[in-house]
Amino acid sequence: MKPKPIKRHLVLQPLSREHHQGLLLSWKIRTGFTKKIAYSRIKAYTDWFYKTYLIPHFTEEETHIFPILGEDNDLVKKAITQHRRLKRLFNTEKDIEKSLAIIEEELEQHIRFEERILFNEIQKVATEQQLQTIAAHQNEKEYIENSSDMFWK
Ligand SMILES: [Fe+2]
Ligand SMILES: [Fe+2]
Repeated sequence: MKPKPIKRHLVLQPLSREHHQGLLLSWKIRTGFTKKIAYSRIKAYTDWFYKTYLIPHFTEEETHIFPILGEDNDLVKKAITQHRRLKRLFNTEKDIEKSLAIIEEELEQHIRFEERILFNEIQKVATEQQLQTIAAHQNEKEYIENSSDMFWK
């Protein structure tokens, strides 16, 4: 029998929806590579996604979600290290091809880690009070695609 998938707590669902967009970003980079799109075009799009959606997402996790487990928790430490590495990769202007290839792989790995391990642990230990606090300040940003250059189509 397969283990039953853990249902994502309502409070964490907006972040899970953002994870879906993150996985799509990796897919778009892969598709751009396959279609031999100029790296500068892919980079322009990943820059937009990073600034508009990923920075706020990282900040939300680091400010409100990870503290539920605490900064000494090994899973949290791992996630924060991955955030730091991803930030460096998105911010770099050198060796764009290589950075995009690493982003494609590591962003997906990071999201899978959060969805399969870290978020399950968080919703297991979070108190009702902590979840209410997250819910109270939550302000989900609707995803609006940047349609200026949809190179993956
Ligand atoms: Fe994260
Ligand atoms: Fe995340």
